[in-house]
Amino acid sequence: MIEVERLEKTYSTGGLATPVLKGVSFHIDKGEYVAIMGTSGTGKSTLMNILGCLDKPTAGHYGLDGTAVGSLDDDALSSLRNRKIGFVFQQFHLLERATAMRNVMLPLIYAEEYPEDAEEMAERALTAVGLADRRRYRPNELSGGQQQRVAIARALITDPEIILADEPTGALDRKSGLEVMAIFKKLHEQGRTIVLVTHDRGVAEHAQRIILLKDGRVAEDRAVEERRDPDVELNTLGAGEDDG
Ligand SMILES: Nc1ncnc2c1ncn2[C@@H]1O[C@H](COP(=O)(O)OP(=O)(O)OP(=O)(O)O)[C@@H](O)[C@H]1O
Ligand SMILES: [Mg+2]
Repeated sequence: MIEVERLEKTYSTGGLATPVLKGVSFHIDKGEYVAIMGTSGTGKSTLMNILGCLDKPTAGHYGLDGTAVGSLDDDALSSLRNRKIGFVFQQFHLLERATAMRNVMLPLIYAEEYPEDAEEMAERALTAVGLADRRRYRPNELSGGQQQRVAIARALITDPEIILADEPTGALDRKSGLEVMAIFKKLHEQGRTIVLVTHDRGVAEHAQRIILLKDGRVAEDRAVEERRDPDVELNTLGAGEDDG
């Protein structure tokens, strides 16, 4: 589904070239749930922007579902993005003046054809994140966790195969964060491919696999062991069996 080979990204600002990604390679299969970790400034968001077809690499290959993304023009790129990818960001990026319903319906405006049943679709998406009863609320009338769930409903409305989430729990308390992670778990069980950036190891371990970026390269790429119950996991398990 996602094939990244020797991917490089160098930003040029004010005549200064800043290499950020220096040859990143990995494959992500359809239906995989992957967490990307790494310290601040290591290029996680840069990589996500490329995976999400929001930006292009300086060098290297990115194949998305068999399409060589590098060869596409901007129109083809945004069409691919709109069809395949749903985004979730740390700072929800909701329209403050619009109700939850309107926010969720937004991506449909960019769809090839505006669906007749847009409202029903939005209701279904809000129901999927447990917010059907908040459909008329505006962002400032919702908690942070609820706002993030609206943002997830918005990402879901186009029924994307891939969900890209950049620090989706970064602005949330632990309980709201766990609610959001429970939704991702459900989306994964439905067969969606999920790529999630986090610097919280506890969040990363909800995924099946962790890719660690360091200095613009993949420093580690490993499977996550079978998860323990998240509520039991917190400091209550005996010492000595962690971090195998
Ligand atoms: N549009 C841009 N122009 C120039 N440099 C940029 C641009 N975007 C990011 N960078 C630089 O690229 C590097 C990586 O940034 P990026 O946002 O990908 O890091 P990150 O791993 O997501 O960090 P964080 O964990 O803090 O979100 C940084 O040094 C940043 O200054
Ligand atoms: Mg970032």
